[in-house]
Amino acid sequence: MESHWWREAAIYQIYVRSFADSDGDGEGDLAGICQKLPHLAELGVDAIWLTPFYVSPLADGGYDVADYRDVDPRFGTLEDFDTLLASAHELGIRVIIDVVPNHTSSAHRWFREAVAAEPGSPERSRYLFRDGRGPDGSEPPNNWTSIFGGPAWTRLKSSDGVPEQWYLHLFDSEQPDLDWTNPEVHEEFEDVLRFWLDRGVDGFRIDVAHGMVKAPELPDVAEGTEAGMLDGQHELPYFDQDGVHEIYRRWRRITDSYEGDRALVAEAWVEDADRIARYLRPDELHQAFNFEYLTAAWDATRLREVVDTSLAANGAVGAATTWVLSNHDVVRHVTRFGGGEQGLRRARAGTLFMLALPGSAYLYQGEELGLPEVTDLPEEALQDPTWERSGRTDRGRDGCRVPLPWEGGSSPFGFGPEGTTPWLPMPEAYGPLSRESQRGVEGSTLEMYTRALRLRGELAALGDGTMEWLESPEGVLYFDRGSGIRCAVNTTGAAVELPESGEVLVASGPGVFAGERLTLPGETAVWLRV
Ligand code: NOJ
Repeated sequence: MESHWWREAAIYQIYVRSFADSDGDGEGDLAGICQKLPHLAELGVDAIWLTPFYVSPLADGGYDVADYRDVDPRFGTLEDFDTLLASAHELGIRVIIDVVPNHTSSAHRWFREAVAAEPGSPERSRYLFRDGRGPDGSEPPNNWTSIFGGPAWTRLKSSDGVPEQWYLHLFDSEQPDLDWTNPEVHEEFEDVLRFWLDRGVDGFRIDVAHGMVKAPELPDVAEGTEAGMLDGQHELPYFDQDGVHEIYRRWRRITDSYEGDRALVAEAWVEDADRIARYLRPDELHQAFNFEYLTAAWDATRLREVVDTSLAANGAVGAATTWVLSNHDVVRHVTRFGGGEQGLRRARAGTLFMLALPGSAYLYQGEELGLPEVTDLPEEALQDPTWERSGRTDRGRDGCRVPLPWEGGSSPFGFGPEGTTPWLPMPEAYGPLSRESQRGVEGSTLEMYTRALRLRGELAALGDGTMEWLESPEGVLYFDRGSGIRCAVNTTGAAVELPESGEVLVASGPGVFAGERLTLPGETAVWLRV
């Protein structure tokens, strides 16, 4: 098997707005990331993925792009980007960036031109404009709903206030969907890819990678089929349509034409591992996020099943499997696993398990500090469009996007210079979790991550390759990665003993004892050399 960096990389996701603020405007920026890069090198990550930093009104945190070839002034300049890329490369850290091809911002030049143009014009044909249903066209063209809540269609009004055509937006009304049957859309995005590849990026994370192609004629969604990020999706006429694969074949030819090892990773909420693997056929994308793993409950049988199906489905197309527990769209895994001390214990064990699996792992900023979700943000602080679009019933994703605590006992905890007001309020509880409070502290979450990532770098058995399950008591997962490297995780609440022992390389919590036999406390994981 050919070796490529992404097949075993630990890739650290930076939510740019919340990572580090160099100028005190309350939002993170590229210069802030640049300053903190040595910390990421010390943590031991192989690559970073930057969420969108492009020109954007930030109606959806930057996933509403108004100019794909420039940096939003609040995040810096193209020069800052080049400096960041060069500094990362000097430290041996690769950089992948987001590309958002399903929709643009409504502030994008193309959309403004479309609104100003006539129905049926070339300007409108870059998006999905349709006449409404009903005698006066006052009903949306079909019954699709937005993933953020409410209808997926918004009706335009002409300048004199007369209602006219509708446009499709699977997400916010400020995120009009592009029409990928239009060759101009293809050309534009291929050019955008080249723009950033020429600057030297190591790859792209493709937003809503399963969404660009819609079923012809935009048919109604069948009764009883729910829209949403986590649902079974291939029955939906706007997700996982066969036509998307042709786009990726073209994109793959582009990345292959560049020197260096450029990677394409799909964000595709497609549940079935075999359907996901179709995106990873040898002439398509390199990776896809493993959301089936992310959404798996803390249950040994389920975890084992997901690991097996993921490895089998990806292996069948020759792709390396990815693993992920947190990102900027989901509740942080400390909180998902129950919150409090138990949530943290499980989260740490879950992470150690994940980092021992064959393939590459995606880490979300702040998980190395054991940050929980912030669940009590004041309503007036909420910014996720989900909040308003759901009629204020779903608080949305801001709770995992609160800026990072770097040091100090009070806000802004080193996120920005003294006096900075972070764009989302940072809770007092972040103080003891700051990087400074955990660095070099035996048993801290940060030290566990640092040690595990260092071992991944040192031990050839970890990363890409194979694994073999070993016999273990109920609720315990135990496997071998070759060269005597093994991982055991106890998902139950009670301590267990394993008949084998060896040298403890890293443990997710206290009380692991390797004597004649291995004692593994409840909700704890360990890496062993036997
Ligand atoms: C997935 C992104 O991760 C999410 O943050 C965004 O809201 C949607 N795609 C729409 O772009």
